[in-house]
Amino acid sequence: MTQTQAPTPAVSPAWQALSAHRADIAATDLRTLFARDPQRFERFCLHAAGLTLDYSKNRITKHTLELLVALARERQLEHARNAMFAGARINSTEDRAVLHTALRNPAGSCIEVDGENVMPAVLAVRQRVGAFAEAVRESRWTGYSGEVVTDVVNIGIGGSDLGPAMACEALAAHGHPRLKLHFVSNVDGDQLARVLASVNPARTLFIIASKTFTTIETMTNAASARDWFLASGAGEKDIARHFVAVSTNAARVAEFGIAPDNMFGFWDWVGGRYSMWSAVGLPIALCVGRDGFEAMLDGAHEMDRHFSEAPLEVNMPVILALLGVWYRNFFDAGSLCIAPYAQALSRMPAYLQQLEMESNGKSVTRDGQPAASPTCPVVWGEPGTNGQHAFFQLLHQGTDLIPVDFIAPLKASHNLPGHHRLLLANCIAQSKALMIGKTADEVRAELAASGMNAEAAEALVPHRVFPGNRPSNTLLMPELAPRTLGALIALYEHKVFVQGVIWDVNSFDQWGVELGKQIATRIAGELAGAAPGDHDASTAGLIALARAATS
Ligand code: F6P
Repeated sequence: MTQTQAPTPAVSPAWQALSAHRADIAATDLRTLFARDPQRFERFCLHAAGLTLDYSKNRITKHTLELLVALARERQLEHARNAMFAGARINSTEDRAVLHTALRNPAGSCIEVDGENVMPAVLAVRQRVGAFAEAVRESRWTGYSGEVVTDVVNIGIGGSDLGPAMACEALAAHGHPRLKLHFVSNVDGDQLARVLASVNPARTLFIIASKTFTTIETMTNAASARDWFLASGAGEKDIARHFVAVSTNAARVAEFGIAPDNMFGFWDWVGGRYSMWSAVGLPIALCVGRDGFEAMLDGAHEMDRHFSEAPLEVNMPVILALLGVWYRNFFDAGSLCIAPYAQALSRMPAYLQQLEMESNGKSVTRDGQPAASPTCPVVWGEPGTNGQHAFFQLLHQGTDLIPVDFIAPLKASHNLPGHHRLLLANCIAQSKALMIGKTADEVRAELAASGMNAEAAEALVPHRVFPGNRPSNTLLMPELAPRTLGALIALYEHKVFVQGVIWDVNSFDQWGVELGKQIATRIAGELAGAAPGDHDASTAGLIALARAATS
């Protein structure tokens, strides 16, 4: 059977079987499933690339998993996965291969696009990125006046920002002691202005990161940074010591005034949100060094191998993806909460928002038909324990079922005594509380033990009951280090890929961001004085107010 002959999801036999099975599961709660099976943790736990996934606190049985894996097989997941790894042009609307996995391949491998092995070019850029990062870190690369670089400002947005920003924050404990990394993405000049106010031009390196080198936010920030640099007393020739570019668009980079020697390239088969493994990862290499960056690539590669080799039943990205499909499509769960129990992973929810929502936030299938079922849920989250004092109330007692991914390193990245135990205790407690809940009888007994009279207690019971039976995954890693971070991110990349295959959407285009860009360009012209266009009353009214305020 070829890829195109896979039955449409939602009317396929596997889908129908899952629909029927959902009614059985609805009748059983997680407490009962755990009580029935003392081996449930071992049964529903996976280890891969240094990560442990405990998925036992999900509303599944062995049979659920069999049905979900049958759905994946029916959707010809293995065929699709192999096509991606082999460099097939699976991004059909842009006619491109999807080969971020090649970026973390070791030397000696061969991946062909249009009959050409891409690995020599990949390795050459990887080598240049590593060498440049080491030169800056070891103070061999200095500013125009001979001063060492102390601050690196990455100017980019979306995939040219979120991955490196998330990783540099995550790996700060492994970072270079002299180098401070800053990330500027927003066209709101407030962000750039604050960073510029805190750095010394003679000691600052700017990385202009943009796959296209046309993104208006990045180009506006880059031009302002260059103006600021020149206004500080530096000359045009000094730009070469302070501005480097990461892009696929050599012509635009040259037009901006950055010489080819200061440009690190990548390729159209690297999607923006999948690009942190390419030269877009330069800030990461500056932060953790060449070896650290390569360790991150190695961790991701280990996850790639697991994804491409492990049977679907014990394949971590496949299981994570199928559980997401189970809740999205069979329990109508419209959102997924990401709760990293690591302050260093504070940018992880934002990173995953782009990865998941820009990839699978689609409502047409690969061949342009309306999607047969709901696709990507809203992805959101905050680090624990902060979230517990903000939105966890809703997770425990709200009206919606919201699955949670808990993510935690087992070892701390600091040496303050006591904190990490408390952090882990809270992480484990939350997944247990969501799962086990608290019955009315348990509440009654608790209130009686506290000495409350029966009448007062009874009035409180409904408020203090926790329905429980709320699912979560727990992902553990030994510590937050480059290698485990690489594996973790690759895990989610492949999860997104699997879900795209199940939902039959192209996970690698992003046409949905275009309309807003087009309209903003027109309105920007009107705010700058061009004649007002033909707008609806709301848009015209808002433009008039903005024009009055900015003219
Ligand atoms: O607008 C969305 C987007 O195209 C993302 O997919 C991408 O990561 C981001 O903009 C930045 O694009 P570029 O790297 O070309 O500046």
